[in-house]
Amino acid sequence: MLKLLPNFARWSRAAAALTCMATLTGCDLNFWRMDGHQSTMVVEGPVAQEQLNLFIVTVWVTLVIFIIVGGVFAYATWKFRARTEADEHAEPPPQGHGNPLVELGLIGGSVLALVIIAIPTLKAIWFTYDVPAAEKANAYEITATGYQWWFRFEYLTEQATVDASVKTPLVTSNELVIPVGRPIRINVRTVDVIHSFWVPKLAGKVDMIPNRANFLWLKADKPGYYWGQCAEYCGDSHAVMRFRVVALGPREFNDWLDQQLQTARNVAPRPADANRPRPQFASLRSFRTNETGITERFEVDPLASWQQKQAPEKGEDAELVATGKQLFSTKACISCHTVRGHAGAGVAGPDLTHVGARTTIAAGLLENNHEQLQRWIHNPGAVKPGNKMAKGYVDNKITLTAADEAALVAYLESLK
Ligand code: CUA
Repeated sequence: MLKLLPNFARWSRAAAALTCMATLTGCDLNFWRMDGHQSTMVVEGPVAQEQLNLFIVTVWVTLVIFIIVGGVFAYATWKFRARTEADEHAEPPPQGHGNPLVELGLIGGSVLALVIIAIPTLKAIWFTYDVPAAEKANAYEITATGYQWWFRFEYLTEQATVDASVKTPLVTSNELVIPVGRPIRINVRTVDVIHSFWVPKLAGKVDMIPNRANFLWLKADKPGYYWGQCAEYCGDSHAVMRFRVVALGPREFNDWLDQQLQTARNVAPRPADANRPRPQFASLRSFRTNETGITERFEVDPLASWQQKQAPEKGEDAELVATGKQLFSTKACISCHTVRGHAGAGVAGPDLTHVGARTTIAAGLLENNHEQLQRWIHNPGAVKPGNKMAKGYVDNKITLTAADEAALVAYLESLK
């Protein structure tokens, strides 16, 4: 029993270390499952699944190689170790020129390992390259374009209303809404430098390269809310160039399309408005650089948050919204942003026709709520260093008072 005690102490230490690790990771089940917003190990679509399968095959083959090579190495190190003082100074034993059988075996083994990896690799390359022929007729086509530092999505087959006589392909940004269960064929393009389109849970990354027409396809197996990320270094704010993919059932997707194809929403003044007390303009609290812009509540069920966002905000102040709409023109926002149906046809920045219905702003970086909207328009350069909107403020000498910001926020939130 006494002899066991030192071992007992050792095991206790190991248990304590494990407990510590578990505590540090918050006993987070997702950590142990290797799951997370951008996990490639727990996937939700056939393209990502095919790529995961290939990864697993490669891991097994290399694990077997590691065990064999590591085992032989450990055995030789132990067996031929220096046992005495004399061993340490002894001449090396006579050197051989190899054993033909062993060498042939190693070559044969390597070829076999490569073949085992090559067959599923080729199969995966063919599968992930383009939509399978059987599903081509059902594919839905979208063009994704990278900008420093946000994503523009163009729905080529949908005609959105600009005014009574003019239609244009539907354009959104930073939140790619797709129908569930249908293959989505995405043309990836860029207007400036190389970006890379990556939704880890749905498909591997494909680069957006100037003057090159790349494409990829993906499919979401079930409704969901997926995190995407630019995966190619593209300048100051590359790390915060994010986006989301929202996969909806067919009916919900069509409802969303119907809403998006409309021109920008107008908030009708309510009779009660005249007698309402004027809103108090909350002064902006100071945000630290890199402070997270996503609340925990939103993290728990992002798809439900997205669905909630589709409806108008409670307690809209028509007068404040109207002031914001006017400021959107006078402060030159319209020269960079399109708001179909209202003034505004700029294309340098994201289309804001239905920005109020998105869950995030600033390319997936901040949650789309009152506080974060104000944080963004107050000082965009502090959130996303080097961005064009911050430069636009300086070039056009745009200054916003707290009251201006409150009105602009109310206007943007009203754009459902
Ligand atoms: Cu765009 Cu990195």
